[in-house]
Amino acid sequence: MASKYSFPFSKFKFFSGLFFILINVASAQLSSNFYATTCPKALATIKSEVKSAVSKEARMGASLLRLHFHDCFVNGCDASILLDDTANIKGEKKAGPNKHSVRGYKVIDNVKSRLERLCPGVVSCADIVAVAARDSVVALGGPSWTVLLGRRDSTTASFKAANSNLPSPFLNLSGLIKAFSKKGFTAKEMVALSGSHTIGKARCVSFRPRIYSEKTIDSSFATSLKAKCPRRGGVNNLSPLDTRSPTLFDNAYFKNLKSHKGLLHSDQQLFSGGSTDSQVNAYSSNLGYFRTDFAKAMVKMGNLSPPTGKRGQIRKNCRKVN
Ligand code: HEM
Ligand SMILES: *[C@@H]1O[C@H](CO)[C@@H](O)[C@H](O)[C@H]1NC(C)=O
Repeated sequence: MASKYSFPFSKFKFFSGLFFILINVASAQLSSNFYATTCPKALATIKSEVKSAVSKEARMGASLLRLHFHDCFVNGCDASILLDDTANIKGEKKAGPNKHSVRGYKVIDNVKSRLERLCPGVVSCADIVAVAARDSVVALGGPSWTVLLGRRDSTTASFKAANSNLPSPFLNLSGLIKAFSKKGFTAKEMVALSGSHTIGKARCVSFRPRIYSEKTIDSSFATSLKAKCPRRGGVNNLSPLDTRSPTLFDNAYFKNLKSHKGLLHSDQQLFSGGSTDSQVNAYSSNLGYFRTDFAKAMVKMGNLSPPTGKRGQIRKNCRKVN
């Protein structure tokens, strides 16, 4: 640079550098009013679509909540779970924890097509999933929280990370604590988030060993489950995760654990003489406490390293990279 420009240039450099830093910090953060001017009807559109899906089938609320969890735990909340397989992308949909199990893709597609008509290219699939999870919990009587927005969508997916980052129902307590601590969650937050299993269903294959060979299960509960989940076959037969109130987002899940009626091995691990027993006791006796902690932990989960600013893209079709 010629010396006669050096004074104004260095000044420009200083301010542009400062500006650059500010923009980057701002873009790396999510905000609750992200679509206020660019798509003011975004939130109402998502809510109405979720409400109608949940009123047609209550379980869809559970499925949409789980969809968000399985998105966020695999390379952040970036809608990577929604990408279909292509010649270049081995997607997450066929990974063990998701295959024949994760649902709700069609509801997200419906929301997305309405939003593309309203405000083309503006609302990310990752934000739709995050808001749909919140609206689902609310639709089933659970707590609400403010969803921070501004996530962008990934251009890649990871079959491998989906297989390794999502917790298995056959983990013991230390395995569960470890899986969540890898994502920055405390054991207490892991217990709160597991309260999600107060809604929705699981397949026979996910709890068969528990009902046939574990001692930490109420025997009449085990017997009743065997009718639908035989020793062989029936892999996809469903049972509610919370038998008391399967479509109500309450704290019955924790009450079940106290009477050894957790459906999954991993569920019962939270109350089997270990370090999380006291937390299960606390949530089972205080619904308000559970609701508050659950909402806080959901906000934290929704903030798991989403692409923001210029990273990623706003997909036009949630199933495909633009
Ligand atoms: C603590 C570790 C967790 C394990 C081991 C686990 C495992 C599972 C398994 C095996 C199923 C049944 C899948 C099937 O059989 O098809 C399930 C269902 C479900 N999970 Fe989890 N999960 C965990 C944590 C969570 C979290 C953190 C959330 C949400 C924030 C969540 C939400 C759900 C919901 C709502 C369902 C029912 C889905 C439906 O009915 O479509 N789970 N989970
Ligand atoms: C939990 O599971 C891990 C891995 O399967 C195992 O190494 C560990 O010993 C188990 N811990 C307890 C307390 O059973």
